[in-house]
Formats: sequence, structure tokens, C-alpha cells
Amino acid sequence: MVREWDPRTASSAEIASLLDTLNAVLAADLPQDPPWRESSMREYLSEVMPGERRISWVAQDDAAPDGTPGAILGHVHVLLLGGIGVLEVLVHPSIRRSGIGRELVRVAARRVWDEGFQSIGVEVVGDTPAVAFYESLGFTRDYVETRSVLDLRSVDWPALTEMAAEVGAGYRVEFWPGGPPDELIEAYARAKAEVRDSDDVELRPSSYDPDRLRDSLATLHRRGMKPYIVLALHERTGEVAGLTEVVVPAQHPTRADQYDTIVVHDHRGYGIDRAIKARMLLELRSAEPEVAEVQTWNAQDNESMLKVNAELGYRPDRDWCEYGVDVAELVHRLDSHR
Ligand SMILES: CC(C)(COP(=O)(O)OP(=O)(O)OC[C@H]1O[C@@H](n2cnc3c(N)ncnc32)[C@H](O)[C@@H]1OP(=O)(O)O)[C@@H](O)C(=O)NCCC(=O)NCCS
Repeated sequence: MVREWDPRTASSAEIASLLDTLNAVLAADLPQDPPWRESSMREYLSEVMPGERRISWVAQDDAAPDGTPGAILGHVHVLLLGGIGVLEVLVHPSIRRSGIGRELVRVAARRVWDEGFQSIGVEVVGDTPAVAFYESLGFTRDYVETRSVLDLRSVDWPALTEMAAEVGAGYRVEFWPGGPPDELIEAYARAKAEVRDSDDVELRPSSYDPDRLRDSLATLHRRGMKPYIVLALHERTGEVAGLTEVVVPAQHPTRADQYDTIVVHDHRGYGIDRAIKARMLLELRSAEPEVAEVQTWNAQDNESMLKVNAELGYRPDRDWCEYGVDVAELVHRLDSHR
């Protein structure tokens, strides 16, 4: 049975059942990824940025004869942001290929259509059944990134300590657990705005203005995801010359997520990229001793970033693709398939 589902009011048993399904999906499709934990799972599924909405549905097994609710074996949610609905679907490996994934996408797509949105985007992990699934529904690939993973056990810490110190004169590197302080928010947002055209990825939008940046940091905290920032300050002007962001999610705290790394154009060529990333890893090691790996996503043509990541020890892991579809076409296709 597929029904709309609100994670804010769902029972703890339902949240736990969805988590079991998510972990079964990970074990089947991404066996190297750490399983997720229950901490802040409800908040992860519920909290959104101001102005965004997330609508969810579940596919639930029948109740047992004694009335115990059935397991949650499938889930879809769609995040409505800007002009696009961003979809995420998962189906327990034990019941795949029985049309549940297609049915979940159908109900979500109908709603996206009813809400007046024209396109749906989805992140699809390379070498998993999701590729054939979305292609069968008419989604086409818009963009491919590479996910890379750094195993902290392989890091040469003395070399990293040297790298962290090798920054040009006139720059000061600072570590800010929790996010940049309020007095730096404006300069920080300016640095992010400068590179928005070159490094933008539509489904994971960055925050370019100070208020949106504040909202985005607050949303991360509410979802149980702790941001860490290292930035390079240009001492003469007080401008943020470079920044790197890592998030440690309560749901999988052994594997941290590297978010944006930016060096503003005028400040390139001074070793800032290497130095801030190296400093971040050093700081993480003491602030979050449970972190064993860091994962990051890069455009395949971003050669300088890939080079620095390789020097730090990141190993390419998977293609990470963005697919998109026109909502009207999707709704039509799915309705005529019934
Ligand atoms: C993708 C996913 C949702 C598909 O769910 P599903 O219930 O098995 O999909 P359906 O049964 O509705 O399949 C619909 C169509 O998709 C295609 N398809 C689905 N899985 C396929 C596969 N493994 N190989 C080839 N085609 C496939 C087929 O055309 C299928 O139609 P058919 O069975 O009539 O031939 C499911 O495999 C899943 O949960 N994957 C993980 C999702 C994910 O990436 N999560 C985030 C990372 S963990």
C-alpha cells in the first residue's frame, strides 16, 4: 500500500523501519558505504530550508494479524525548490522489480504536476539499478560528477601538516566549527557568489546571499548535520579568499561529507586550496575522532580540484549523475503504463 507519509508525526517504529530499508538498500547497492544510524533521522527527513517543501510517501507491507503495522519497504520524497522537484526513491531489495518503484514515482510526479512544477531532477548513483530504472521512465542524464572517498587511515599526517602551513604571505587560515561567525557571513557569501557560475550543481544549490547562508547553516544543524568551515582570510582587505566546508552527519558520523571548496579568482595560485583542505583534515581528526572517511563530489573536468584531492589521498569511487525529466511527459508515461 502506498500512502502519503509525514516524518514529523510518524511513529518511531516507522522511522526505524524506513531506516532498516535504507540500510538494506545501501548494503545491496553501495556496500562500501557505512550504514545509517537512527540519530536525528526524523529531523533529517523533516527539516527543510525556508521556502522549500518536502512531501513524502511510503510503501508499507500489510499489518500482521495481531495488528502490528507492516514494515516500510519503499519510500519516495520530493523536495520542491525553485522551479524543480528533486526526487528520491528507494525500494527494499527483497521486493524489487514488482513495480513499487514505478508506483512511488507515479504518485510523487502527479503531485509535482498538481503543484505546478515543470521538471523533476534526481541524483542517480552509477553502477546501481537506479540507472536502468530512471532511464526506463524517460529520465535523461544532464550531468555527471565523480564521488571520491578519502580513507583517513591512509593519510600521511606529517605531510599534511606541512601542506596546511604552505599558504602565501598575507593570508590567515581559520577553523570555524559550526559555521562561519556572523561577522564573516557577508564576506563568506561573497566568496561563494563569485564562483557560482563555474561550479554550480543545480540539485544541491549553494547559498550565495548572507540570509540564505544563515538559513542554510541553521537547517543543517536542525537536520543533525554539523558543519565545519576552514577559510583563508586575505588580511589586508578582510575578504574571504578561500573556504572549504565539511559536514559530519549524525546519521553516518564515520563518513563526513565534503561540501564546497572555493578559492576566489584573484587569490588563486597561493596554495590556498591545498592548505585549507589539509587544515580541515587535521582539525577534523581532533574535533570528530569517529570520522574515518571523507567523501566528496567533483565535476569530471575540474582538473585542479581533482589533482589536489588525489594528492590528499582521495580515491575515485563512483559516477554520481543528475537526471531530469519533463513532469508532463513523466505523468503521461506512468499513467499510460497502469
Ligand atoms: C531504483 C529502484 C527504486 C527501483 O525500484 P523497483 O521497485 O525495483 O522498480 P520497478 O519494479 O518499479 O521497475 C520499473 C522498471 O525500471 C526498470 N528497472 C528497475 N530495476 C532494474 C534493473 N535492476 N535492471 C534493469 N531495469 C530495471 C525496468 O524497466 C522496470 O520495469 P520491468 O520490471 O517491468 O522491466 C530500486 O532499485 C532502489 O531502491 N534503488 C536504490 C535507490 C537509490 O539509489 N537510493 C539512494 C542511494 S542508496
